[in-house]
Amino acid sequence: MVKTLPLGDQQVPVPGFGAMGLNSAMGTDLNLEQSEPVLLKAIELGCTFWDTAVAYKNGENEKLLGEFIKKYTVRDKLFVASKCGFDFVEPPHQRATVLSLSCLFFWNRYLTLHLEDTPLEQSIGALDEIRRAGKTKYIGLSECSAATLRKANAIAKIDAVQAEYSAFETLHETTGLIETAKELGVAFVAFSPLGHGWLVDDFPFESPDDFAPNDFRRTVPKFQGENFYKNKTIVDEIKKLAARKGCTTAQIGLAWVAAQGLITIPGTTKALRLEENWASRDIELTEDELKEMRKIVDAAKPVGERFSPIFQSMVGH
Ligand SMILES: NC(=O)c1ccc[n+]([C@@H]2O[C@H](COP(=O)([O-])OP(=O)(O)OC[C@H]3O[C@@H](n4cnc5c(N)ncnc54)[C@H](OP(=O)(O)O)[C@@H]3O)[C@@H](O)[C@H]2O)c1
Repeated sequence: MVKTLPLGDQQVPVPGFGAMGLNSAMGTDLNLEQSEPVLLKAIELGCTFWDTAVAYKNGENEKLLGEFIKKYTVRDKLFVASKCGFDFVEPPHQRATVLSLSCLFFWNRYLTLHLEDTPLEQSIGALDEIRRAGKTKYIGLSECSAATLRKANAIAKIDAVQAEYSAFETLHETTGLIETAKELGVAFVAFSPLGHGWLVDDFPFESPDDFAPNDFRRTVPKFQGENFYKNKTIVDEIKKLAARKGCTTAQIGLAWVAAQGLITIPGTTKALRLEENWASRDIELTEDELKEMRKIVDAAKPVGERFSPIFQSMVGH
């Protein structure tokens, strides 16, 4: 049963909450009023490690959280992580810059940087300066290589790295990123811990054409053409294990990631699902169940790239 995990000098409640899908990337565009049920549920339960980014709907996702935090005066209850470094205003969104730091709002306590072509000494130096000035408590990187993490950590202490990890996508077991983070004492924040919605009991999409026009999964090879149908079957064995365990597929998927010491940030737009995901922290996986999960995960690897070509070219540096 993993209920908290270390990040810097504190323990954060696990699972956290990924806010991206509230109004960006996943075909949903909720306003403040529509977001309130899920956000209030998170506060009520103590699910207070939240993730956002400047790039999510060009700052609107941060703004939405900001409006909520202000309205309910919950700033002191939350640990909000945001990511910056994308020049999201000028296509093709590739130029790395710390200029977008100016878009960060006051409540951020943990700041991550997507690296592109800015020299590491400059970007990490800038983040460290912000930390020293007390404007953020922690700094980190997102989807970088293991070598970059090591180099960055030698420039200034890196508190966290965020990268994709789930029972559906275990790539970073082979890139060395997880291992390196553990060795350096850097918290690993596992994004898309439900495989962008696949590791659940009721994935609602029957074909790639079912995604909304503005759903980024339409652009992701893993969710396109034949890959869609091949990958959809991956969760079948996990579903069976969850049913035997008496929990949901999402819960066993989240508990499995947390059991490895990685902080999950599942996203949902629904209060009931947040409750379901939060309850994954009450699940204890036995040695046998962990072994069975490992066997299933190793036998079933997804096909297709994780991102569209332009985003794929931006990760792993
Ligand atoms: N650093 C990066 O580059 C990066 C990239 C992607 C994401 N992220 C972060 O990671 C967070 C999570 O990633 P994600 O949203 O891509 O993927 P995810 O958390 O793996 O999956 C989210 C999807 O699963 C559905 N879902 C959630 N709980 C469910 C449940 N119990 N039963 C059924 N369906 C469920 C949600 O739909 P409903 O809303 O309908 O519940 C949503 O479509 C994001 O919010 C973002 O903060 C970071």
